[in-house]
Amino acid sequence: MEKMPYTPEMDRALAVATQQPLVAPSVVTTDWKTGLPVLTGTRVTLRELRVSDAPSLFAMLTTEEVSRFISPPPTTVEGFERFIMWANRERAAGNYACFAVVPHGMDTAVGLFQVRQLEPGWGTAEWGFALGSAFWGTGIFSEGSEMVLEFVFETIGVHRLEARAAVENYRGNGALRKMGAVQEGVLRRSFLRNGQYMDQALWAIIAEDWRVRSNVVTPTVH
Ligand SMILES: CC(C)(COP(=O)(O)OP(=O)(O)OC[C@H]1O[C@@H](n2cnc3c(N)ncnc32)[C@H](O)[C@@H]1OP(=O)(O)O)[C@@H](O)C(=O)NCCC(=O)NCCS
Repeated sequence: MEKMPYTPEMDRALAVATQQPLVAPSVVTTDWKTGLPVLTGTRVTLRELRVSDAPSLFAMLTTEEVSRFISPPPTTVEGFERFIMWANRERAAGNYACFAVVPHGMDTAVGLFQVRQLEPGWGTAEWGFALGSAFWGTGIFSEGSEMVLEFVFETIGVHRLEARAAVENYRGNGALRKMGAVQEGVLRRSFLRNGQYMDQALWAIIAEDWRVRSNVVTPTVH
């Protein structure tokens, strides 16, 4: 698969991403089912997907290194356009939320954070994420994750957030661990990829643990 050529815009965004200090991101709360809030950090903005993100998402997420351990992404730009329209419909139905990852200095998405309910009412949910490999190790994942976790636990009200990562996906597992997820077990031969069943680690973050870790003060009831 041919990679998207690097542009000066991407170079600037990478420079911004790697040089900015980490400060508390701002999270705007809205009725997310009518439209996802725009979450703004120091390096990156998370926002609703737009159909115009399809070409950059296609270029970023269909490379071998990004897609080898995840469910196969769409194989064409049109496939990404259909996925984006589906994502917006599922968000409006209240089942799913998918944020586009847009580094400061860029207009289009270089990755995704998605979350779906595992039961009606969002008591338990599952998240997943992928970034174009040019943006790995830049801090964009950590900053984006912090904003997504606040959205998941404080805006949606999820109690338990699960994730599955192929055991061989060292980066994916490392990313989950550093965001405070706890590995609870291994789902043996649970993921079919390229004709082979792979083991997956099951990770979870519980809302209370996230609050303690993030120093979010919950009101005391007397
Ligand atoms: C998962 C993903 C979004 C994480 O973004 P990232 O920028 O690579 O993540 P980070 O660099 O911030 O963190 C990854 C962690 O894994 C660690 N890691 C990397 N390679 C590792 C290895 N071989 N063994 C163990 N840990 C490893 C890193 O050291 C890092 O932790 P640290 O910051 O404490 O050092 C990105 O790698 C990606 O898009 N991967 C492809 C899609 C995918 O696999 N998604 C996850 C499905 S669960």
